[in-house]
Amino acid sequence: MKLVKLKWCQIIVSLSCVLLTIACNNSHTTIPNSGTKYLKVATDPTFIPFEIQRANGKLEGFDIDLMNAIADSSGFTVQFQSLPFDGMISALQAKKIDAAISGMTITPKRLKTISFSRPYLKAGLAIAVREDNSDIQDLNSLQGKRIAVQIGTPGADFAKTIPNAKISTFNSGPEFFQDLLNGNVDAVFCDAFATLYALKINSLPKIKVVGNILTEEYYGIATPQDSPYLNLINKSLSTLFANGTYTKIYRKWFNTLPPQLPEQLY
Ligand code: ARG
Repeated sequence: MKLVKLKWCQIIVSLSCVLLTIACNNSHTTIPNSGTKYLKVATDPTFIPFEIQRANGKLEGFDIDLMNAIADSSGFTVQFQSLPFDGMISALQAKKIDAAISGMTITPKRLKTISFSRPYLKAGLAIAVREDNSDIQDLNSLQGKRIAVQIGTPGADFAKTIPNAKISTFNSGPEFFQDLLNGNVDAVFCDAFATLYALKINSLPKIKVVGNILTEEYYGIATPQDSPYLNLINKSLSTLFANGTYTKIYRKWFNTLPPQLPEQLY
């Protein structure tokens, strides 16, 4: 009997230890300064293969997988919210959303009003033209040409540096590709990665990319300044880089190994 009692005591002590360990491990997953485990994350699903909305409404893409993996490793749930790209920065500033993942380039200008996570993808700008255009082959042949850009993007800033270019601005990427096809503009400044992917899967017919990649850019997850979640997002990103999850997601979408990324940009 004595022996049995002792065993029960041991079981209770061991159980308490297990429960205590679980509690301790969970304590760091509680989102600081909030009782909620839901994070409102904006995305503009017009940017293949980073965010795409399927016909049944389901969101897919590299950014979506990455954000879900971050949520898994941090212990929160993501509520995705579709927002037009040009409305994201003001929504973040007004704290209507907790974060945005949308192939958004980290720029010094944007850092004046919002914050970014550590870089999660290396990208750059490309020149896209109609397939039958043999006139424009590189940056130098863009002088005086009609160039379309997406409002408020690094492409829009870059276009301003081309002598005598006539720049048209668009709210979304798909719109400027349509204008290129219609012959209203001669070239488009677009994100190389996304455009080359779209060309590969034939979702941008009659368009080609010419010249070199013009810039070196990095995407980051955007948050309001002083966000209580930024640290958590960065910690999870570091975990996913270290434990192979990031590489797995990268290979799923791009079929190759990811390049080395800087830990901090500015
Ligand atoms: N990388 C560019 C930027 O940050 C364009 C991103 C467009 N993304 C989108 N989901 N439409 O300005």
